[in-house]
Amino acid sequence: MTQAAQQYRQSAVGRVALVTGAAMGIGAAIAQRLGEDGHTVVVADINLAAAEEMVAGLRANGIEALAMAIDVGNPESIASVFADLERSHGRCDVLVNNAGIAKTLPFIDYPLDNWQRVLDINLTGTLLCGQHAARLMRSNGWGRIVNVASISGMRASAGRTAYGTSKAAVIGLTKQMAIELAEYGITVNGIAPGPVDTPLTQALHSPETRASYARAVPLKRYGTPAEMAGAVAFLASDDASYISGHVIPVDGGFMASGILEI
Ligand SMILES: NC(=O)c1ccc[n+]([C@@H]2O[C@H](COP(=O)([O-])OP(=O)(O)OC[C@H]3O[C@@H](n4cnc5c(N)ncnc54)[C@H](O)[C@@H]3O)[C@@H](O)[C@H]2O)c1
Repeated sequence: MTQAAQQYRQSAVGRVALVTGAAMGIGAAIAQRLGEDGHTVVVADINLAAAEEMVAGLRANGIEALAMAIDVGNPESIASVFADLERSHGRCDVLVNNAGIAKTLPFIDYPLDNWQRVLDINLTGTLLCGQHAARLMRSNGWGRIVNVASISGMRASAGRTAYGTSKAAVIGLTKQMAIELAEYGITVNGIAPGPVDTPLTQALHSPETRASYARAVPLKRYGTPAEMAGAVAFLASDDASYISGHVIPVDGGFMASGILEI
């Protein structure tokens, strides 16, 4: 490790980072990366057994980590996790709102219960975790919140009535949080992943979806969870101290592209 990297790593030592949905997929890679950068990592997930397994792996690599059960679709569950964190650590320096769900169904008959559940988890969960974390960050005058949105919140894709709308709202909420939390030394940004190979997309993406992405993404491949984690780690770091209210597409060029053949 270079001296500069060593210093950067040192700066995160003592900081507590809570990542929702961190037991697998993109969240797990974010937890791993923030841990490698020196944070104490809270692996918060609805699947406590998987979160505990993740924590055991992090600890085996010398990372300080703990697991907490959270359902970001449930306000009481969120409140109780942040109350526990305040009691045990007295701080939350970094929050990554990563937990999210998706189902693809045609707009015309989109089921209301699914719409509601997707908004509860992807959008209201981000709001509530953000409020609880910001109250802890305010007392230290420093904080970083990173929301995991999606390219589906920037461009419409088939079947994503609830998912795409929830992620578009997360992008709006990111800006709202950024301007209101700036006075407390808290920055709020987001990433908008393109297609990434995770348990979610292994279940969700049909061969047709995969072929569509292969055509539409200039880099011609899915991203990796580690590539998403790299962008989140930057936004959570001191290097990003003057960036707030932005959502960075991490998408292999998808958002920049129009037609790809001459
Ligand atoms: N994979 C992609 O291609 C992709 C693209 C764009 C955006 N995203 C976003 O990235 C985030 C992570 O996606 P992923 O692909 O890693 O998903 P995943 O399904 O592979 O993992 C999600 C994790 O969140 C947890 N989780 C689910 N519901 C929860 C809840 N109510 N409370 C707490 N934890 C819960 C799951 O147990 C799991 O550990 C999501 O917000 C997703 O919308 C993913």
